Amino acid sequence: MIDKRLFKLNGIISRLFTLTIMTGIQGLAILIQGITLASAIVNCWQGKPIKNALIAICIFAIAFIIRQLLVVIKNQFMSAYADNAVEIFRRQLLAKYTALGSTLTVEQGTGNAVTMLGVGLDNVKNYFQLLLIKLFDLAIIPWIILLYIFYIKWEQGLFLLLIFPVIIMFFIILGLAAQSKADAEFANFKNLNNRFVDALRGLPTLKQLGLADIYGGEIYNISEDYRKTTMRTLRIAMTSTFALDFFTTLSIAVVAVFLGFDLLDGHMTLFPALATLILAPEYFLPLRNFSDDYHATLNGKNALTDVLEMIDQPEMINKNSLNLESWSPNSQLSFKNINFSYDTQNVLKDITTSIHGYQKIAIVGESGSGKSTLLNLIAGFLQPTSGSIRINEQSLDHLAQKDWQKQFFYMPQQPYIFHDTLKHNISFYAPDATDEAIKKAVIQAGLSDLVSELKLGLETVIGESGRQVSGGQAQRIALARLLLDSKRKILLFDEPTAHLDIETEYDLKQTMTPIMSSRLVFFATHRLHWLDQMDYVLVMQKGEIVEVGEPRTLISNKNSRLNQLRYHLRGEK
Ligand SMILES: Nc1ncnc2c1ncn2[C@@H]1O[C@H](COP(=O)(O)OP(=O)(O)O)[C@@H](O)[C@H]1O
Ligand SMILES: [Mg+2]
Repeated sequence: MIDKRLFKLNGIISRLFTLTIMTGIQGLAILIQGITLASAIVNCWQGKPIKNALIAICIFAIAFIIRQLLVVIKNQFMSAYADNAVEIFRRQLLAKYTALGSTLTVEQGTGNAVTMLGVGLDNVKNYFQLLLIKLFDLAIIPWIILLYIFYIKWEQGLFLLLIFPVIIMFFIILGLAAQSKADAEFANFKNLNNRFVDALRGLPTLKQLGLADIYGGEIYNISEDYRKTTMRTLRIAMTSTFALDFFTTLSIAVVAVFLGFDLLDGHMTLFPALATLILAPEYFLPLRNFSDDYHATLNGKNALTDVLEMIDQPEMINKNSLNLESWSPNSQLSFKNINFSYDTQNVLKDITTSIHGYQKIAIVGESGSGKSTLLNLIAGFLQPTSGSIRINEQSLDHLAQKDWQKQFFYMPQQPYIFHDTLKHNISFYAPDATDEAIKKAVIQAGLSDLVSELKLGLETVIGESGRQVSGGQAQRIALARLLLDSKRKILLFDEPTAHLDIETEYDLKQTMTPIMSSRLVFFATHRLHWLDQMDYVLVMQKGEIVEVGEPRTLISNKNSRLNQLRYHLRGEK
C-alpha cells in the first residue's frame, strides 16, 4: 500500500516521529473533546445550572481548537517536507536525464519525461503529504479512542475492534481493483502525453503528408481511452467510499442501539453512553479519510514508482578513471574489438581502430550503418557491450570520462537553439565570454549577415516562439559556441550538413575548414565531398568498419568499398 522506499528518504524518520507526537496529541484532543461535550450535555440534561458545565465547555473549546490547529500544522509540516523531497527528486531526475543523455528520451519518449517531471512529481507531492498524514491518523487516533471505550464498556469496545478489520478487508479488495484501473489510467496518460508531444513536433511532416487529421483522430481516441479509464477508476473510488461510509454508519447505528438498550435497562448512565456515541464516529473517521485520499493519491503512488525506477537506472561508473590534461598532437585513442548492442540487436561489431593527434577522420556509410552509434560511443553517451578502449596507455571501460568529455564539442544534425537571445545562445557554454569575444566568434562563424539583418542584433530573441533561424544559421550558432570555447580540441560532427542545401553546405564548409585545423575531428557523413578535408576514412557497413585508409588512396582504387559506396549513394540520389 505504501512504497517502502518512501522510508529511506533523508530526514523522514525524524519527521515521522514529530508527526507521531502531533497525531498523538490530536488523538487526545479528540478524546477530550468528546468527553467534555458529553459531560456538558449531561449537565444540561440533568437541569443543573450552566455554570457547572463552564469548565467542561472551556476545555471542549480548547481541545477543539488544538485539534483543528493540529490539522493545519500537520499539513504545513508535511507539505514543507514533501516540497523538499519532490525538489530533490526533480534534481535527481534531471541529473539522471543529463547523465544518461539523449538515449533515454529516445527510448522513453519526450512526453514521458514531461509527464514525469511535471504532473508526475506534483502527484508525488500530493501522495506524500496526504497519504502519510492520513496513514498516521489511522495508525494512532482510533486506538486512543478505542482504549477509552474499552475502559467505559468493554463489550462496545470489542464490537468496534472486531468490525474494524472487516471494513479494512472491504477497503483492500476495492483498493486492489482501483489500483489496476489506476495503473491503466496512468499508462494511458503517459501514452497520451507521448503521442501529443510527438504530434506537435511532427506537425509539419504530418501536414505535408496530409495525415494531420488522421493523427488528430488517433489522439482523440487515445484521450477518449484516457477519459474512460479515469471514469472507471473514479467509479471504483466512489463505490469504495460509499461502501465504507455505509459500513461505518451501520456500525455506529449498532453501537447506538446497544447503548440505548443499556440505558433502558439501567446498566449504564447517560454520560458514558453519550461519550461512546460521540466518539464512535471519530473512531471510524481516520479510516474514511484514508480511503478517500488513498484513491485520490493512487496516481501519485504510480508516479513515485516511475520516478524511483528512473532514479535507480544504472549509470556509467568510473567517470574519473581518465587522466588527460588536454588532447595534444601526441595523444592516442584506440578501440579494440568494440561491440555495442541495443537490447539484442548488435549495432556495432568488432570495431578496432587507432587514432592519434589532430587527425581528421571521416566516418562514412549508408544510413543505419552505425555512424551515429559509433559517434555516441566516442562521446561517451553509450557504453560498449564488450571490447577495450585506451587513451594514451590508460585502459577505459567507456568514454563517459570527465577529462574526455570536457575536451570535445559535439555537433548534431540539428543543434538545439534555446528560446533566448542570440547572444546567450552563442555564449551558452561560456557565459563569462566578453562582448569582444562574442563578436569575434560571430564573425568567424559567419553570422555577421544575420546579426546585421536583425533589428536588435545580438539581443534578438530566437528559437521557439522567437525569431526562427534557418538550419544553416543554427549550425553557425553552434560553431560560434565552439569558437568561444577554444580549449576543446576534439570535434564530433554527426552529419552536420545532412539537411542543408548544397549552397548553404558549401558556405558552411568554408567556415568550418579553418575551425577543423589543429583539432582531432570525427566527421560522420554520407556527403563524400567532405573527404577532401579529411586525413583518414572509416567506411562502415552494417555496424562494421569494412575499410580504412587515406581518402585519396581509396578513391584511386577502383575496387575499394569507398568507391562502391560512392556509386551506391549516387544511385540513391
Ligand atoms: N535507440 C535505439 N534503439 C535501438 N536501435 C537503434 C537505436 N538507435 C539506432 N538504432 C539502430 O542502430 C543501427 C545504427 O543506427 P545509427 O548509428 O543511427 O546509423 P547511422 O547514423 O549510420 O544512420 C540502425 O539499425 C538503427 O536502427
Ligand atoms: Mg546517423
